[in-house]
Amino acid sequence: MTPAPEKKTVPELTEAEAAAELARLAGEIAFHDAAYYQDAAPAVSDAAYDALRLRNAAIEARFPALVRSDSPSHRIGAAPAAGFRKVAHSTPMLSLENAFGAADVADFFGRVRRFLGLAQDAAVEVTAEPKIDGLSAAISYEGGKFSLGATRGDGTTGEDVTENLRQIDDIPKALKGKNFPDKLEVRGEVYMARTDFLELNAAREAAGEAPFANPRNAAAGSLRQLDPAITATRNLRFFAYGWSQTSAPLGKTQSAAMAQLEKFGLTVNAEALLCKSMKAAEAYYEKIQEKRAELPYDIDGIVLKVNRLDWQERLGSVSRAPRWAIARKFPAEQAETLLKDIRIQVGRTGALTPVAELEPITVGGVVVSRATLHNKDEIARKGVRIGDRVIVQRAGDVIPQIVRALKEKRPKGTKEYVFPETCPVCGSLAIREEGEVVHRCTGGLICPAQILERLRHFVSRDAFDIDGLGKKQVAFLWETKRIQSPADIFRLEANEQLSKTPLAECEGWGALSTKNLFQAIAARKRISLERFIYALGIRQVGQATARLLAQHYTRLENWREAMAAAEDHVSAAYQKLLNIDGIGPSVADDILGFFAEPQNKDALDALADEVTVQPFEAPEAMSEITGKTVVFTGNLETMTRAEAKARAEALGAKVAGSVSAKTDFVIVGATAGSKLAKARELGVTILDEAAWRTLAGR
Ligand code: IVH
Repeated sequence: MTPAPEKKTVPELTEAEAAAELARLAGEIAFHDAAYYQDAAPAVSDAAYDALRLRNAAIEARFPALVRSDSPSHRIGAAPAAGFRKVAHSTPMLSLENAFGAADVADFFGRVRRFLGLAQDAAVEVTAEPKIDGLSAAISYEGGKFSLGATRGDGTTGEDVTENLRQIDDIPKALKGKNFPDKLEVRGEVYMARTDFLELNAAREAAGEAPFANPRNAAAGSLRQLDPAITATRNLRFFAYGWSQTSAPLGKTQSAAMAQLEKFGLTVNAEALLCKSMKAAEAYYEKIQEKRAELPYDIDGIVLKVNRLDWQERLGSVSRAPRWAIARKFPAEQAETLLKDIRIQVGRTGALTPVAELEPITVGGVVVSRATLHNKDEIARKGVRIGDRVIVQRAGDVIPQIVRALKEKRPKGTKEYVFPETCPVCGSLAIREEGEVVHRCTGGLICPAQILERLRHFVSRDAFDIDGLGKKQVAFLWETKRIQSPADIFRLEANEQLSKTPLAECEGWGALSTKNLFQAIAARKRISLERFIYALGIRQVGQATARLLAQHYTRLENWREAMAAAEDHVSAAYQKLLNIDGIGPSVADDILGFFAEPQNKDALDALADEVTVQPFEAPEAMSEITGKTVVFTGNLETMTRAEAKARAEALGAKVAGSVSAKTDFVIVGATAGSKLAKARELGVTILDEAAWRTLAGR
C-alpha cells in the first residue's frame, strides 16, 4: 500500500502530492498559529510545530513552482513574538448598556430626559439600527486615505490590524468626494455573513480543522490573523455605526452624520431608521425581530441612539457606556437538554459555584455543555436534580444558565445534589458568611484553585495582559513550582537560568514560546495604577472601581498608605474611601480585608520590587478643577445638576454636597441660599454658571 502523502518523505513525493501537502500544511500551520497567538492555547508542542514548518520549507525548496500565495513561509511575522502592535485609542471604545424589555427602554428615555432637564413628555428622537454580532473596529482616515485600523482590545488599547482591515471591501481605502474632514476616525462592526461562515466551516472541516462556533468567532479569528492574505480569503464585512475623532463636524444629528459617512463611501446599515418616539423605537424592535432570520448576518438586538449630537455630548458617558445609547437585546435563546452532573468550581475569591454538566446542545448557534447554577439556594429554588431534563439559556456573552428543570419529564433515578461542606480543591471548610448567598473556601492562599484563579486573573487581558500565559500555561508553571505568587512571574526568566530543567525543554513549551513569553512579561513591567489595582483581584474591585481608586489615590504608595490607615474605621482615611462616589461600605470592607491579610501585603511588596506602577494619568487634558472639590448650589439654568456633576467628575473633580473649608469652588445658580453664605464666610471661590461653563470647557 502506498503511504499517504503526509507520511512520505519529501524526496518521495510526486508533484501532485506535493501540491496537496503544501495546501494541507498551509492550513495546519495557520491553525496552530491561531491557537498559539490568538487563544494562547498551543495545540501541539513547539517541536511538532517546527517540524511542520520545516517540512513545508523542504517541499517548497524541491518544487518552487508550487509555492502557494498563502504559504506559511511568506508570512510576514508568521512566527513573531509580539503578534500585533498595540494602539492606544484616541477616545475609549465603549460598550453599550443593555435593555432586556420595553420597561428598560422606558427607563432609558426617562434618564435621558432627566439628565437633560427636559419635561418627561418632551420628544426625544432616536436612531434605531440592528446590533450586529461581530467585533468592533476603529478605522482612521488621514487626508481621506485609510491610515490605521485597530480592534477594540480592552477599550483603551487595541491591536493594529490595519493590513487585515484593508482586505475588507466595505472599508474604502480612500474616502469619496472632496468634503471629507482631514482627520476622521470611523467606528463600526466587522462581521461575517452567515453564508460565508457556513462555507468557511465546511472548508475547515473538510481540511480536518476545527470549525468556528459562530460567525462572530469566525470574524474575530479571521481578523486577528497575522497574515493578511488569510484574512483576504475570509470575506469579512464592515458596517460603520459611528465615529470618534473628526477634524470637522459630520452633522448635527446622528442620522445626518451617518448619511455623511455613507457619502464618503462607508457602508452603513440600510435597516437603520430614525424614530420620532419611544413607541416608534418599540415598533422598530418588533419589526427587526421578525426580520431577524432573513437578515444575512447575525444580530442580537437593536441599538437606539439619541439623535441630537449636542445632546449626546451633554449626556457623555458613565464608566464604560455612553448615556445616549442603549442596546435593546432579543430575549435569550433557550434549549432543552439533560443535566448529567453537578460539579463545583472554585473561583479566585474562593466562591464555590455549582456548574451543571450538560449533554452538549446548540443554543443560539453555540454548543453549550456547561451552565452555571450560581449557588446552593439557586439549586434548591429551581428544584434541579441530577438526571433532570432542563432548559438552558444563553443571552449574548453571559455564561449559559439553567432556567428550570422540566419536572413533568423527570425520569426515574434522578439524584438530589448535596452541596459540599468543604472545598473540593483543598479540603478547607467552605462557609457561608452572614447575608451572603455563596459558600466560600476558607483556604485563602493555600487553596490551589484560588491561587491559580488569581494568577490567571492577574495576567488576563484587562489586568497585566501577558500574552502566552493561558490557563494551561499558568497551571503548568504553578504545578512545577515556577510561579507561586504574582511576583514570581517577573522573576521567571532569571530563575530559569538557574533551573536544571529549563522551560524551553518542557513538553509544550520549546525555545520559541519560552522566548516569546519572556518578552511578553518584560513588556509588562510598567503598568498603569488602575490595571495594577484591578489585577490584584480584590473582591468587588472590577475595572470601574479600580479606576476610581487610581483616580483618587493617583500613586500606589499613596493608596497603600491610605488603606493601612483606613483599617481604623473612625479614621479620616476610611471616610475618604467611603466618600468616593461608587464605593460603599461593602466594597470598602473587601478592599480593607485584602490589606488586612499579611500574605497579601507581602505579595504586594514583592510585586512592587518587580514592576513599575505608573501614577494615574488623567485622561482628558484637564482643567483647573481637576483634583478640586466643588459644590453646586441653587438652580442651574443651562444644565441639570446631574449633568454638571457628571462634567465635573469627568474633569477629575470631586463633587461634594456641603461647603466646608476643603471646598475649592462653589458654583451658584439662581436662588442660592445657605451654601452661598457659608462659602462667603469661609472665603471659598464662588463662580456663577457662566464662569463654571468656561472653566469646564462648555
Ligand atoms: S454603537 C459607544 N451600534 O455592540 C458605543 N454598537 O455591546 C457605540 N455593536 O462594542 C456602539 N452593532 O461592537 C453600536 N449598530 C451598532 C452596533 C454596535 C454592534 C457592538 C459594538 C459595541 C457593542 C456593545
